[in-house]
Amino acid sequence: MKFLIINGPNLNLIGIREPEIYGQESLEHIISWVTKQVDTLKNDLQWFQSNSEGEIINKLHWAFESKFNGIIINAGAYTHYSYAIRDAISAINIPTVEVHLSDINLREDFRKKSVIKDVTIKQITGKGKEGYLEAINLLSKY
Ligand code: DQA
Repeated sequence: MKFLIINGPNLNLIGIREPEIYGQESLEHIISWVTKQVDTLKNDLQWFQSNSEGEIINKLHWAFESKFNGIIINAGAYTHYSYAIRDAISAINIPTVEVHLSDINLREDFRKKSVIKDVTIKQITGKGKEGYLEAINLLSKY
């Protein structure tokens, strides 16, 4: 199965950025940890990070054309206000799981709202890198 894992703005800075919230591991470290846990013979994981809303939307459209089986998205702060990313997820109709490293429900009020939640099959928050793995496992059985 083919899964696309999208990380949005500022997630290229994890490990450096607010380590008390996001931990001390870099995105590269998380990617290699998750990839090691997944059976790469059965699953093709494609990772993508961008700080740009349009690039994320184009990648979602590409996933549709490329017939991906599932999408995992940590849209960073776009989660809270990007109707354009929400519409793209809804348009391509590929099962999608929303992941956040931190627990967005226990932080500032503006983070409690996700505009993409309704177009995903599940929201996983506050589990750090394990959240990505949980999302892949969920999608592989979906
Ligand atoms: C985040 C939570 C968002 O509120 C924040 O803007 C991020 C990271 C998380 O993974 O916990 O950039 O998506």
